[in-house]
Amino acid sequence: MKRVFSGVQPTGNIHIGNYLGALKQFVELQDENDCIYCIVDLHSITLPQEPKILNKNILDVAALYLAVGLDPKKSTIFVQSMVSGHAELAWILMCNSYTGELSRMIQFKQKSRENESAPTGLFTYPILMAADILLYDTDIVPVGSDQKQHIEITRDLAIRVNNKYGETFVVPEGRFLKEGARIMSLDDPTSKMSKSAKNIHSRISLLDDASKIKKSIMKSTTDSEGSIRFDMKEKPGISNLINIYSSFSGLKVEDIEKKYEGYGYGAFKKDLVDIVVEAILPIQERYNEIRESEELIRILNEGAEKAAAISERTMDRVKNKFGLGLAKG
Ligand code: AQP
Repeated sequence: MKRVFSGVQPTGNIHIGNYLGALKQFVELQDENDCIYCIVDLHSITLPQEPKILNKNILDVAALYLAVGLDPKKSTIFVQSMVSGHAELAWILMCNSYTGELSRMIQFKQKSRENESAPTGLFTYPILMAADILLYDTDIVPVGSDQKQHIEITRDLAIRVNNKYGETFVVPEGRFLKEGARIMSLDDPTSKMSKSAKNIHSRISLLDDASKIKKSIMKSTTDSEGSIRFDMKEKPGISNLINIYSSFSGLKVEDIEKKYEGYGYGAFKKDLVDIVVEAILPIQERYNEIRESEELIRILNEGAEKAAAISERTMDRVKNKFGLGLAKG
């Protein structure tokens, strides 16, 4: 059995990009692997959060994890800040990483906008992510393709520590889907669909109602050519919609192109609305059943206990290798 680890930030508005790029893979992997899925609240405070909203968002993501099909009997589900090993290992890894490699991270450049008052945590975010992954001897990390650079630095760090201190970490692999790996914004298909974009019609959130979904899809940016053809470079808007259609329906891109030969964007978008609503409605029904339940809290407490037990074994090994505390030999 392979160990799988991944996480989602509780920063609100979990959208179909998060679902198709990450959550859907989480569910697919849980039958044949030992899966650990985290709500990465320590990552979310790299940008300012309102405490009450953050706390609500943590439970929202946990309920969505269960609503999309994660089964606590198969997967360990927990909140990152409830396991102290994440922050502890991040510090040790920070002492083995270079400011040069961190300053090359695209996400840091985008989010800090070269601003000198950007939080230090935003700069060291990839190290905390590396700690999350290495803490659990992870083999596979299912993520969207926007995380490729962060997986690379995690691998580099694991190899660097192994070379210097002897076998300490498992070197993980990223798992990126072909379809859904990168869902783009509906109003600007050259940038990724994002939780924080100001325009709510740039994304479809998993908790949007049918009329909002319809409005966002019908308003989405396309082009003036009018033919339903996949060409990410020349026709990024319609290509993104075809990608969403394909990911939800399971139909291949070529089959979608054939199906809509001679049709206009209006007809295609209407069908896409139906497909997305049909896929999301059952998730929302399950979410509403679980969100306020005691069961949710119990699952998160049990998940944290299980995760802590695994992480403590790794931390003992790491401290021993580094000669920290009363580590032996
Ligand atoms: N547009 C996307 N397409 C495919 N996968 C995506 N992911 C994110 N956006 C897309 C994947 O979802 C997982 C969880 O993401 P996250 O919560 O760590 O972060 P985020 O949504 O990228 O980031 P933020 O900072 O909360 O918000 P925005 O979106 O405003 O930047 C990851 O596996 C990610 O790859």
